[in-house]
Amino acid sequence: MNKSIAIYPGSFDPITLGHLDIIRRASAMFDKVIVVVMTNMAKTCSFNPEERRQMICKSLAGIDNVTVECYDGLLAEYAKMHGARVIIKGLRAMSDFEYEFQMALTNKKLNPDVETLFLTTSPQYMYLSSSMVKQIAQLHGDISDFVPAAIHSDILNRLTQK
Ligand code: PNS
Repeated sequence: MNKSIAIYPGSFDPITLGHLDIIRRASAMFDKVIVVVMTNMAKTCSFNPEERRQMICKSLAGIDNVTVECYDGLLAEYAKMHGARVIIKGLRAMSDFEYEFQMALTNKKLNPDVETLFLTTSPQYMYLSSSMVKQIAQLHGDISDFVPAAIHSDILNRLTQK
């Protein structure tokens, strides 16, 4: 079991600057970070998993120890398969906490070797979410302060098309 691998799971539909901030900080703490594009059964995505994966890859310039994969099963199983002991989660507000706490306990039950590590979102991204970004883009607002520049046009091309 490798202590220095962490996984950062999420829907990333699409990745935001808030996600990227968490990835950067996690990459400084671990030898290797695997960003895992997963399915959240409660959400309907605008981008398919491979599109989401590619947008993350495009956003990672200058961060070398991060890889990006898609996985459609249980997070706890994924961690087992990759020998990862740490799941990284970003916490924005108290409203995130109950849901994240429930997931952390469930993942611990399914895979007792795994720990969930919460990183507090940087204050400037406290309010930011993928769904907000999508709403702003769909209504032709400016999303440039919210998403990596490398994927700005990908988002607009998808969400502002007729
Ligand atoms: O970015 P999101 O939508 O908040 O991420 C949630 C995600 C994808 C990490 C969560 O739904 C998840 O872990 N899905 C994988 C399936 C799974 O393991 N479910 C049980 C977790 S309690």
